[in-house]
Parts: sequence; C-alpha cells; structure tokens
Amino acid sequence: MQRILVVDDAEVNRELLRGMLKDDYIVELAEDGEQAVQKMERFYKDTAALLLDLQMPNMDGFAVIAQMEKNGWLHKIPVLVISGEQATEIENQCFELGVSDFIRKPFEASIVRNRVRNTVELFACKNQLEQKVERQTERLRRQHQIIQMQAEKLREARPFHDLMMQYRSAIMEVETKLRILNDEFSLKYNRNPFESIKSRLKSPESIYEKLIRKGFSATVDDIQENLADVAGVRVICSFPDDIYRLADLFTKQDDIILLKRKDYIENPKSNGYRSLHLIIEIPIFLSCEKIYRKVEVQFRTIAMDFWASLEHKLKYKKDVENADEIVTQLKTCADSIEALDYQMQDIRNKIDRARPY
Ligand code: GTP
Ligand code: MG
Repeated sequence: MQRILVVDDAEVNRELLRGMLKDDYIVELAEDGEQAVQKMERFYKDTAALLLDLQMPNMDGFAVIAQMEKNGWLHKIPVLVISGEQATEIENQCFELGVSDFIRKPFEASIVRNRVRNTVELFACKNQLEQKVERQTERLRRQHQIIQMQAEKLREARPFHDLMMQYRSAIMEVETKLRILNDEFSLKYNRNPFESIKSRLKSPESIYEKLIRKGFSATVDDIQENLADVAGVRVICSFPDDIYRLADLFTKQDDIILLKRKDYIENPKSNGYRSLHLIIEIPIFLSCEKIYRKVEVQFRTIAMDFWASLEHKLKYKKDVENADEIVTQLKTCADSIEALDYQMQDIRNKIDRARPY
C-alpha cells in the first residue's frame, strides 16, 4: 500500500481523513508543518500524496509548500490542500504555488477518496514519464558523445584503418595456424580437433564505447595498449580434451606470445559460462616491418557455444520477463551441458579404443 500524509492541527479532521483513506493507503498523521516536514524527510521516497491544512500553529500550510519547493519535493509528491478557506484568491494562490488540488471543508468521503486517487495516479504517470525521458536523455547524451569521438577519430582515420588491417591480418594468421593443425590431425589421426572457427573484428562503435567506458582516450595507441579483443577468434571443438590439446599445440608455437590465459572451463563463471580464453600476440609481416598484434582466442565445445549464444541474447535484452528464472534455468542447462560434454568424450574414447574389424 502507498503512504499518504495527512497534515492538520485538528485531531477530528486527521481522524476523519484517516477513516476515509485507511482502506486504500497507509495513513501517516502530522499535527503541524514541522512534523509534516520531518515525516516527509523520512518517507520522501514512498509518500504518494500530502493532504495539507493551511492554518496551523508553528509552521502553516504555505510554509510547508515553500519548504517542499525548496527541497525539490513538490515535483515528486502531489499536495492536496484541505481547507475551510472559502476565498477563491487563496485557492488560486495555492494552485500558483504548485498544489495539485484544493478540497474544501467539510469534506465528503467519496469525493476525498476519488480526488486523492486521481491525483496519485496522475502523479505516478507523470513521474514514470519523467523517468523515461531522463533515461532517454542519458542514452542520447552517450550516443552524442560517441559520435563526437568518432568524428574526431575520422580526422585521423588513416592510422585507424591501418590498425584494423593489422588486426585482420592477425586473425588470418591465427586461423591459418589452427587450420594447419586441423589438416595435419585429420591426415595423421583421422579426426578434426575443431569443428569450426568464427572470427570477428570489433566494430569501431564498440571499440570507442569500450575505450570510453574504461576511461581511456580514443587513440590508436590506446586501442593497441588497452584492448585485447579487437581481433577475436572463436574455435568450436567437439570435445573438451580437444580444446586443451589444440590450445596447447597452438601456444607452444615459437612465434606466439601468450599474454593471458583464463580457464572458465576449469573455473566456470557463476552464471555457468564455460570457455578457455587466451590473449596472445602474433607477428604479422608487413612490407617494411614485422609487428605483433593481440588476438583474443576463445575455445569452446559446440554445446558451450550453443549455451553462450543463448545467454548472450539475455544479456543484451532489456525488460525480459522472468529474467531471474531464466538465469537459474541457464545455470541448470550449463551444468547438464558439462555432464553431456564429458559423457560424449567418454563414448568417443570407447569407440577409439575398439579394435577395427
Ligand atoms: P570483456 O570486457 O567483455 O571483454 O570482458 P573481460 O575482458 O573481463 O574478459 P572475459 O574473458 O571475461 O570475457 C571476454 C569475452 O568472453 C566476452 O567479451 C564475451 O565474448 C565472452 N564472455 C565472457 N563471459 C561471458 C558470459 O558470461 N556469457 C557469454 N555469453 N559470453 C561471455
Ligand atoms: Mg573482451
């Protein structure tokens, strides 16, 4: 239930209003303006409306309105004045100060209930809309910032394009090394250590976005130094042991420098994510020089990849219903997939050990 604050120095009025509203709201009472301000300080976030008498000792209704305006509360909490005042100038003055409604004493229960309900609903809609606008403004501000950075970068586009060419070459080098291993294995042992390779170059937008998010500047130097995943290669294997064998053979090659190894298969993420991540540096040979570029290589089984692409969808979708339930379901699936991967590997081993007829 939402909270309503009734402010009136006359006990009989407070009790009357409480009686009218208590079935629909939690009714807080205040005897004067000072108490009202104290209660609002405590319950500011969940006060749905204020019913305010004008003439009170200590701090009157006008002073309460002035204080609310000063604290920025008047935009969030609607004020309904309850007053015996018959003069229309006073009523007008109240509206000019920003109150939402004016109810004259003596009050009629059904009128009070209806007017409070209407005002509360209207304000809730208004607040929701304001929040939506705030969120959209923030989104636009970020987009604008990104576009500005991009425009700035465009002026020095040449070095950026050169760098992207180098990352593309690095991807080709990694892919070639892996394909050679696959070829050799299929000839020697009649099997393929991986099923497929998916490669991608990070888009300029997400390069800029990530640099900004991590507090770096959008320069070619910062990309090279601080982003390890501009070039990404994903290797999809059939069995978990292929992953380790292939990763091992690959990183042992003497021109590869292994910078980082994250084994999310041995230590899965809490959501169930499993893959082996390597950050490596690989040389590329250009017309006048040999340079090293970073590549992020992810090794997964087919089942892990299937899981990760579904989970990725959840991460990038907002307002998914039952998201918590889906997270739990995904974790259960990840556990089943792990068991399945090793069962399949076990079957393959048994088949391999069987003598040919
Ligand atoms: P990023 O800033 O996202 O690159 O993370 P990081 O630098 O901490 O590296 P990490 O090794 O954790 O993740 C690198 C990449 O692995 C991500 O960009 C994703 O492609 C993938 N990844 C990591 N965690 C998850 C996950 O929980 N779910 C899915 N679907 N992919 C993940
Ligand atoms: Mg990354």
